[in-house]
Amino acid sequence: MNLKKEIVMSGIRPTGFLHLGNYFGAIRNYVKMQDEFECYFMVADLHSLTTHPDTKTLKANVHRVLAENIASGLDPDKVALYCQSHVRETSELYLYLNMLDYKGELENTAIFKDKVRLNPENVNAVLLTYTVLQAADILLHRAKYVPVGKDQEQHLEMARNFANRFNHRYGNVLPEPHAFNYNQDLVKIPSLDGTGKMSKSENEMATLYLADTDDVIRKKVMKTKTDNGPTEPDTPKPDYIENIFLLMKLVCKDDVVEKYEADYNSCTIRYGDLKKQLAEDMINFITPIRSQVEALLHNEKYYSK
Ligand code: TYM
Repeated sequence: MNLKKEIVMSGIRPTGFLHLGNYFGAIRNYVKMQDEFECYFMVADLHSLTTHPDTKTLKANVHRVLAENIASGLDPDKVALYCQSHVRETSELYLYLNMLDYKGELENTAIFKDKVRLNPENVNAVLLTYTVLQAADILLHRAKYVPVGKDQEQHLEMARNFANRFNHRYGNVLPEPHAFNYNQDLVKIPSLDGTGKMSKSENEMATLYLADTDDVIRKKVMKTKTDNGPTEPDTPKPDYIENIFLLMKLVCKDDVVEKYEADYNSCTIRYGDLKKQLAEDMINFITPIRSQVEALLHNEKYYSK
């Protein structure tokens, strides 16, 4: 019997505090997968350098991301938890893969277009080949599954293309990697203002961070957009209300969500009560992680200064 576990790889850039999108899109699956698979999870410091951060804060940010992963339940004794730049072979594979990818296809990726929009004065070569570096991270370990949120779907498609081109030229060595979310669609956690997704660097007031204090969580949740409620039974929900229900499903008990669904459908919903409930359940979810992160960051066993 072959007892070899299937290989999993994923990563997160150390570009700011982690948020609910990172947790429910990625880390929740890391934690579930750590017992079943051979896992490689890393902090993508090289990717973060593409947007020229203040490098004085980089080390602290890397430490924080590691602490946020561990506080969320990742066990460094069960998985390889590492820093991307420490694995030099990634850069070597990146070089080989770069010979097999083309300017036109790279310019067409959503991530490249996005970065050009956000930083028109910094369109550097590694921004263009961002997805190639990500493919190298994954293919180096010959990973089969990559737990990520919906925004990374295109990057996995590119990684499969690069793997196939590499195999075609050099022999069948790299398996095709696939985005993974336990038989479900990939997750996209919307921003609180309903205008896009939660993000580490854009629109802080519309993003719930794992580091947010109770008061900040209350303030952000209470500010979310609602309306006077439906006037006809079983009215379809507008997007911004759908988003609030999506957040409730992540952190509230089933019977609580069912009650508010029923209130919505019978036109008796009170959004003030719903938001108070959501804020308290969100606090119950985030606070233990936040406290654990603080404890870890002060624990010399994990971090030397
Ligand atoms: P990054 O740092 O932007 O995001 C880390 C993980 O969080 C997920 N995510 C979300 N999921 C759902 N809803 C959201 N609002 C949301 N925001 C972020 C992302 O999908 C991701 O899983 N390029 C990657 C880092 C990377 C990587 C890799 C990932 C480098 N090498 C190899 C996988 C495999 C990135 O910038 O993720």
